[in-house]
Amino acid sequence: MVVEFPIRNDDKILPFRSDPWWESVVIFQGGNSILNCVKIEGGEPLRGTLRVSGSKNAALALLSGALLVEGEVILHNVPYIQDVATMLTLLERLGVQSAWQGSAVVLQTRELTGSQPPADLVSKMRASFYIFAPLMIRQGHAFMPKPGGCSIGTRPVDYHLNGLQAMGARVVEHTHGYEADLPGELTGARIYFDVPSAGATQHLMAAAVRARGLTTIENAAMEPEVVNLANFLNACGGRVEGAGTSTVVVEGVSKLKSKVEFSVIPDRLEAGTFALAAAATHGDVTLERVMPEHLHSLFAKMREAGVIVEEAEDSVRIKSARRYKAVDIHTMPYPGFPTDLQQPMSAFLALAEGTSFIRETIYERRAQHVSELQKMGAEMMVEGRTIIIRGVETLRGASVNATDLRGGAALIIAALAAQGCSEIHHMEHVDRGYSRLEENLQSLGARIQRLSTSAVTQPLNSDYAPSGL
Ligand code: EPU
Repeated sequence: MVVEFPIRNDDKILPFRSDPWWESVVIFQGGNSILNCVKIEGGEPLRGTLRVSGSKNAALALLSGALLVEGEVILHNVPYIQDVATMLTLLERLGVQSAWQGSAVVLQTRELTGSQPPADLVSKMRASFYIFAPLMIRQGHAFMPKPGGCSIGTRPVDYHLNGLQAMGARVVEHTHGYEADLPGELTGARIYFDVPSAGATQHLMAAAVRARGLTTIENAAMEPEVVNLANFLNACGGRVEGAGTSTVVVEGVSKLKSKVEFSVIPDRLEAGTFALAAAATHGDVTLERVMPEHLHSLFAKMREAGVIVEEAEDSVRIKSARRYKAVDIHTMPYPGFPTDLQQPMSAFLALAEGTSFIRETIYERRAQHVSELQKMGAEMMVEGRTIIIRGVETLRGASVNATDLRGGAALIIAALAAQGCSEIHHMEHVDRGYSRLEENLQSLGARIQRLSTSAVTQPLNSDYAPSGL
């Protein structure tokens, strides 16, 4: 299903980065960011209505896929986040011009001037790897530095590379990156993943659109972001079927349209984070512009814990009734419980009565936030890949460090629900994926403020040790 959101007609086209807010985000790009801490006075129930932003992970895949189009791509509902800034800068370095029009991004992709994106940008995020195939298809050759991303466990790219090779690309691994050559054109192939990979499904699906013949991807990821990209590729003139199921079939085409306009789906992970923050603070929040069907696993577990979740067509209301009870979670590929929401969920469960178990099955190191939550009085521990949480009645404010994007989101939820004041450092992780976080939370009544590091004390215990998960 293609979701179209209205364009705000009052928005004029802004040259990239001329928005004052955007300027402040760009500051975070440097290693010496000066605005990397928020202060939260907790204990205030969140109340009100909030519009959810476009999906980070969908937007990054669409921005990469846009490289296949030789002309103009307009993407609506693009989130204002650091990862998008990084991706746009990366595309700019390859010759793509971009401009913001409200929450839309207009990309001029006719001429590409490079085939090697800068390593410093690629190393900032995992999704940069998705441009490898489009770049090789456009330029006949590409060199891709090794990708970065949150430090949450091993994140290999073997499915991506094997798939491209199966389609006829010559790929060589070097110490600092991967080199790909395309002798002739890509040809369709049968591809199978041992475990469903969202990134590899998206990357290879985009490549297959320009391969000769049929490509079948089996045990494909079924995430909504995969479906969003498939719909985009079809809007470009591609022929992709089966996205959203475990078998995706792509019939290659020799040419794509030169002008495409498309919308990014709402961010189910941002919506899930706000839903958990609303519940943890015993508030009453309506989230608008969401697709509730993308969050059924989360809502099922929130209801099991005692939260009132009222779903409408494109909104959801979160209300609390009483103290919540413990629930057990297994992270699974979509439509299972998303790994990206287990950390925020753990902050919510820190206050639920009884003992909860969260079993992380996707990544082996996605519990680095646990030691930080412990500083706020949470009683939780990590055993292998399981987080064991014994709910407490109250959390207390503390000075803590965000160690990764969703771990940072978990700390924000805990700080909003805690008694007293918290400082959350290393907000650069959180800024990668949450758009206008303070503004959004303030609109729901949260007492949150961005502080410059020079104005606050450093974390009392800055030698946070990653836990064993
Ligand atoms: N995997 C391989 N080989 C590969 C690719 C993946 O073994 O070549 C394995 C991974 O090691 C992992 C599993 O497959 O165990 C799933 O990884 P996947 O490829 O699906 O993850 P990803 O595409 O790198 C995306 C999101 C992540 C999200 C995961 C799982 C983007 C940019 N990132 O990552 O989002 O956790 O899917 O749903 O789309 C986040 O937003 O915080 C985030 C980390």
